[in-house]
Amino acid sequence: MERSQRKMDHIRFTLETREETESFWDDISFPPNSLPNIYYGNIELGTTLAPFALDSPIIINAMTGGAAATTEINRALAVIARERGLAMAVGSQMAALRDEAVSHSYQVVRKENPTGLIFANLGAEATVDQAMRAVEMIEADGLQIHLNVMQELLMPEGDRDFRGYLDHICEIKEKLPVPVMVKEVGFGMAKETIGQLIEAGISLLDVGGRGGTNFAKVENKRHHLPMAMFENWGFTTAESLLETEPWRGRHAAFIATGGIRNGLDAVKAIALGASAVGIAGSILRLVQTSPLEMCLEYVDLWHHQMRVAMTALGAATVKELQEVPVLITGKTAEKGRLRGWN
Ligand code: FNR
Repeated sequence: MERSQRKMDHIRFTLETREETESFWDDISFPPNSLPNIYYGNIELGTTLAPFALDSPIIINAMTGGAAATTEINRALAVIARERGLAMAVGSQMAALRDEAVSHSYQVVRKENPTGLIFANLGAEATVDQAMRAVEMIEADGLQIHLNVMQELLMPEGDRDFRGYLDHICEIKEKLPVPVMVKEVGFGMAKETIGQLIEAGISLLDVGGRGGTNFAKVENKRHHLPMAMFENWGFTTAESLLETEPWRGRHAAFIATGGIRNGLDAVKAIALGASAVGIAGSILRLVQTSPLEMCLEYVDLWHHQMRVAMTALGAATVKELQEVPVLITGKTAEKGRLRGWN
């Protein structure tokens, strides 16, 4: 199947796969604080993903590029990122490395947002040369390397050989002039993987958990399979964040992507140890269905929700929010007992 057709299919099926109303985030709650001793106007949403300082913990995460029709989506996302000071990643640039004619669909992001924080994106099969070219293509500040083993396995035309990924990642990290982040795409990360990546020197990790865009569902739908398969594979974003506990705040900073629908989900992710959150499907749905002004109002609302929750919890900064007490119940707590979380 043509790569650009696949990209359009991914967008179509993400839009068609209805957002779940029940969420693993329901397992996470906070003891209320009736005396927070804090002023809403003093809440600071700035955060650090060393070496980067972000004005907002919300990142527009990697989605698209590579097909003519994706240029306008990327343009809209870039304008939102610029207007609200959000970092942004483009979708996998492999398409443009293979066919220069489509590089414009990625470059539009830098054109619309000349001074914003922008991440390039490639899979772990990429070579150092490809990584350099992806970064240069959009004058990126950093590179995301995505890990999507299960998604590839579920695509009839997907990769089947996953040997050497960690070696590629190490080599790219060593040779690239910009920082490298490693991200999952919705199946979550276990502490075993996190440990391997941190040992290899990766200090920016996006745990990319299950619970939002579900590529097993998307692929099952695309190929009209008679039975649903692997739709519950992996760890949710909350479970993945709990796996990061041994390294939090010391050797690495974590980004939580997967099922972030609003500011309260973002606050819960940060309270579980994330330094920033990535949003993909929710913002794609927004730009595809609403005028730009309304998209900007939604981002303002997410920021407002974060400020409301942080005020009510007495946390003036992202750092303080990472320290508030959290209650973990339900399936998340059950899995935690098996995995030895505190
Ligand atoms: C993605 N995602 C993704 N990730 C990546 O690293 N490279 C990519 O090219 C893509 N492509 C892509 C296309 C579409 C249409 C979607 C919706 C998503 C994954 C994305 O960055 C994110 O990890 C997941 O979508 C989970 O986040 P949400 O959607 O639950 O917020």
